[in-house]
Order: sequence, then structure tokens, then C-alpha cells
Amino acid sequence: MADTTTTKINGHTPEWTPDSWRSKPMKQCPDYPDKAALAKSVASLNRLPPIVHPREINQLKQHLRDVAQGKAFLLQGGDCAELFDYCEQNAIESKIKLLLQMSLVLVWGANKRVVRIGRMAGQYAKPRSSPMETVDGRQVPSFRGDILNGFHVDERELDPDRLVKAYHHSSATLNYIRAAIASGIADLSKPLDWSLTHVHDPELKAKYENAVEFLKDMRSFMHTIGAENEKFHTVDLFTSHEGLLLEYEQPLTRLLEDPTSSRTKPKQAYYDTSAHFLWIGDRTRQLDHAHVEFFRGIANPLGVKVGPTTPASDLLELLRALNPAREPGKITLITRYGADKVSALLPAHIRAVEDSEYARTVVWQCDPMHGNTQAVSRGIKTRRFTDIFSELQETLRIHKEQGSYLGGVHLELTGDPVTECLGGSEGLGEDDLSTNYTSFCDPRLNEKQALELAFLIADHYRTERNGSGKSSPVIG
Ligand code: PEP
Ligand code: CO
Repeated sequence: MADTTTTKINGHTPEWTPDSWRSKPMKQCPDYPDKAALAKSVASLNRLPPIVHPREINQLKQHLRDVAQGKAFLLQGGDCAELFDYCEQNAIESKIKLLLQMSLVLVWGANKRVVRIGRMAGQYAKPRSSPMETVDGRQVPSFRGDILNGFHVDERELDPDRLVKAYHHSSATLNYIRAAIASGIADLSKPLDWSLTHVHDPELKAKYENAVEFLKDMRSFMHTIGAENEKFHTVDLFTSHEGLLLEYEQPLTRLLEDPTSSRTKPKQAYYDTSAHFLWIGDRTRQLDHAHVEFFRGIANPLGVKVGPTTPASDLLELLRALNPAREPGKITLITRYGADKVSALLPAHIRAVEDSEYARTVVWQCDPMHGNTQAVSRGIKTRRFTDIFSELQETLRIHKEQGSYLGGVHLELTGDPVTECLGGSEGLGEDDLSTNYTSFCDPRLNEKQALELAFLIADHYRTERNGSGKSSPVIG
């Protein structure tokens, strides 16, 4: 093993250690009542093998560098709160299929490779605005995600056994993702097997079939000229979650050889092997707090949520702390302001970054979900499709105006026909919300609403391309 005590780790001096975050203040800090049980779970996690490999993490970072440079598009999506119960064949397959359908639409529209990241296989920890809530007239601790406590009111105490359960559910989910993909769930030669039966809207279906036809033609063209390769039969799907629970992230963080370093002079770096991509949430991105301290030492590509409470000056400080080497694609800024605020706030954030030494190094990604949550009658949390659509459209417009590149979208979605967000082509109204509202946290787009958004982005880029007269197809 290389001596790392005297060299910089991930661009930082060695005062960073995997547990240096413990000396910092922390938001959303879990106070486990049973410290011995916590230590036992952490010891188990320390021993278990990595869930993902540094080679894959580096690969994703390279893809994200392409996104930062405008050569690819990033699609990230999945549940708000993934439950252990979602570790089940149908739930996993329907989400993979939806992400693939959407990326097909995006490839067709944006004419760029699409990098796919699921909010899957580990999205088990949730930040909460309030530590307590009222259920059936009783004050109980809030549900903080399956990795911390249970949704059932009798399971609200923090339970450290859940850390190890999270590891196993995450591994089982990723194992099945890998198996399904390796077995051809994404084979573009049979795209119509992607069960389109749930798309009833004729216009949406026609657009989708158009995109599928286009890709089939491309495939047959590639075959004819002998340019087909195995990439056509498999796709990559990377995993991600909010890096909220550092008691989980630290033991899965390992000092491993960087596979891109030379064999004669191997370098090591700290990889968080719980997922390929981790993000810091809106409530935990304080510069001098624990989460930024922990993630500044990690080699994985990272996301940071950016919202109405982010001062433009903090953005640069965050980039300097998390990416001192200015690696392109290392940081994804996930902007989430709300449809009514985006035009007032995004331009200054873009200028702060793009007029600095970090110009063209970040991935700009739009999360049109988290600034648009509202409560309707009986306190049900929902989001209006028109608001989501409008924030995304405004974000596309502003990036174009500012000369920057909107490289990605971050969505809460599910492959199931849920009724959690209002509107969309089905015209879901408030009375429909109770039909199939199954989210345990934020409302998600159903498959049709998610596909519609993909078409919106595709249409935007197709129009732009037709306007500029360029169109050379790229399959990714
Ligand atoms: C989330 O992504 O589920 C979330 C809690 O987002 P934010 O940190 O942006 O509020
Ligand atoms: Co959410």
C-alpha cells in the first residue's frame, strides 16, 4: 500500500480523516439511545465488503465530466424515500424500465449520451423539517427513513440494527439491477418489450414510438456498417442516495487503490463504497458543519442541493471545499428553487460559478420537485405538474440565456401508477390523490408524468438543434 500519511488525500492535506466530521456541528444528527448496539452495527459495516467498486465510481466521474462539458445529459431519478419493502423484483424492474424509457427519449431529443443514476439501492435516510409529528392525536418522532426508524408509529425509536439491514437491502437491490441489466432488460434491439401498455395517452405514445423507431433504424444502420458493439445490449445504471447518515457512510468509506493510477506508482483515495454518487441535502450543506467536512475527503462524484437559502458566495466556498482540484464533473449542483423563484435566483448562482475559476467544471442539474411541494386539503402533500414543468422550462431558458449548459434533471418518480402529483396529461385532480397515494415521504411523478417531462426536455433540445441546423445522431 502506498504511504498516504505525507501526501494529500483527494486534494486535501491529511488533517481530513474519515472521522474528522465528528468534531463539527451537525444538522439532522441522530441521537441513538443504545450506543453499544450502534457500535456493534458499525463494526459489522466495517467488515462487510464494498457495495460498489472504485472503478465504477471513477467511470461515473468520467461520464459526469462529459456532462459538465456539454457532451452528455444526466438523468437521475427514483423514490423520495426508498423503503426496504421496495427491494422486490417488480418494483426494481419497473423503475429500471422507466429510467431507460426516459433516457431513450432523451437520447432521441438531446442527441447526446445519457448518463443514468437511480435514487435507488440506498436512498433510505430522510432529513425532516421537524423531529416530531402528530399521528392520530399522538406526538411521535418523525419517520426518518427505513435506515433510522420505521414508518409504523410503534417503530419510531432509532434502531441501529437498521444500519446493517440497509446495507443488505442496498446490496440485494443493486445485485438485481446488475442481473437484470446483464440479462438484457435494456436491450435496444427489443425496445417494444419495455411494456408500453401503461401509456394510454395517444399523443405521448405516438411520440414515444417515434423515438423507438428512430433508435431501431439507428441500430439497423450500425449493424449494416458493422459498427454495432456490446454497448448496444447493455447500459449503465449508477446508484445514488443522500449522504445524510454519516454513521453509515463512514464505515463503508475505504482507502482503496485508484484504478486510474499507474501500476508502478499506485495512488490511493477514500471511496464511499455505499453508492456511486452521494449528494448533500439542502438542510445539511453548511460550510463548517459535519457533512461538508466528511464529503470533502471522498473521491466519489458528489451532488449539492442548491436552493433559495443558498447565498451565491456559499456556492464558491462549497466548490473550493469539495473540489479544490477543480476536477470537471466532480460536483453536480442540483438546483431546486420552486417555479415562482427560479428566475429571480438561478441567474446569480450561474454567474457566481461560471465567472469563477470553476467555470465549465460543474454539472448543472435541475430538481424541479423540492421547491414545488405544497399541502392541499386534509394536509396531503402534493406537487402540481404545471409547477414542475414550469421550473424545468424556466431553468432550460435561463441556462440558454446565460450561456451555460443544463446537463441534467433530478426527479422523484416511480414506475407505478401512483396518484401523488396533480395534473399531467391524465389531469389528476385533488379528489384523485387518494386513489393510489403510496409515498411515505414526498409525492412522486408516476410513469406517465415522468415520460412527459422527458419529452419536454427532448423537445427543447430538438427545437434548439433544428434551429442551429446541426443533427448527428449519437447513441449512448
Ligand atoms: C430529497 O432530495 O428528497 C430532499 C430532501 O431534497 P432537499 O434536500 O433538496 O430538500
Ligand atoms: Co424528496
